[in-house]
Amino acid sequence: MALREAMTSGRQIMDAALFDKRRYPVVGAAAGYGEWAESYEATVAVGLDTPLLEALTSIRWDDVGSAADLACGTGRTGAWLAAHGVRAIDGVDITPQMLAGAAAKRVFRLLQVGDVAATPLPTAAYQLCTMVLADEHLAELGPVYREAARLLVGGGHFMLLGYHPFFLMNGLPTHYHRAGGEAITIRSYVHLFSEHHDAARACGLSLVEFRECVIDEAWLKTKPKWRPFLNWPVSFVLVWRRDAG
Ligand SMILES: C[S@@+](CC[C@H](N)C(=O)[O-])C[C@H]1O[C@@H](n2cnc3c(N)ncnc32)[C@H](O)[C@@H]1O
Repeated sequence: MALREAMTSGRQIMDAALFDKRRYPVVGAAAGYGEWAESYEATVAVGLDTPLLEALTSIRWDDVGSAADLACGTGRTGAWLAAHGVRAIDGVDITPQMLAGAAAKRVFRLLQVGDVAATPLPTAAYQLCTMVLADEHLAELGPVYREAARLLVGGGHFMLLGYHPFFLMNGLPTHYHRAGGEAITIRSYVHLFSEHHDAARACGLSLVEFRECVIDEAWLKTKPKWRPFLNWPVSFVLVWRRDAG
């Protein structure tokens, strides 16, 4: 497989298939999460996001009046935000089966089926935008950064938390198991941190916090089977602030 050029940024799009060592069948995001939705919460590694969310210092959650959760999935992040004082949360996701899980949590003001690159949400209406564990499914980052910048008020924050590119480049793309046990990969792309930086700066977002989560002994208690990856960086979080005006 060859690299292909992105339509808008001129960068090379890095399909994770370039590095894939597992070679499971690959499906698109909506089809894959449509199948995974039922068992998603029981199987997703909570160590990917919870330690990073708890470590963030740049966002005062209980000052946030309204938040847009992009690729909200089954609403895990929405539930976390609500529990930490965020008052009104709107969620968008491309997979209706994932949104059904979010609706059941009863923490969202509004839930919509939609693409993170072009949501039906109002402009300049949110103090906080979040996107957790979804950027690897986007071929390009420019559109979602532009969308987050559109949704935010001046001074608002975009918190993007993702699966670490180090794992993807070591051949371990996001995957799930069908009811019969067959492993399936969900199409993923590698984004280097410079791509995040360029996409964010191009739409008036400035970096205020950047953390990475490395697998340690405490982390392994939540997913003991990941012991071969001890000391690997597994996830990251970037917090951007929308420039005023
Ligand atoms: C790993 S799940 C993360 C869900 C949730 N944020 C969480 O942390 O549990 C990835 C989610 O991204 C959604 N997704 C992938 N590509 C998308 C796109 N282009 N627009 C909207 N949602 C998308 C999937 O449907 C899925 O719900």
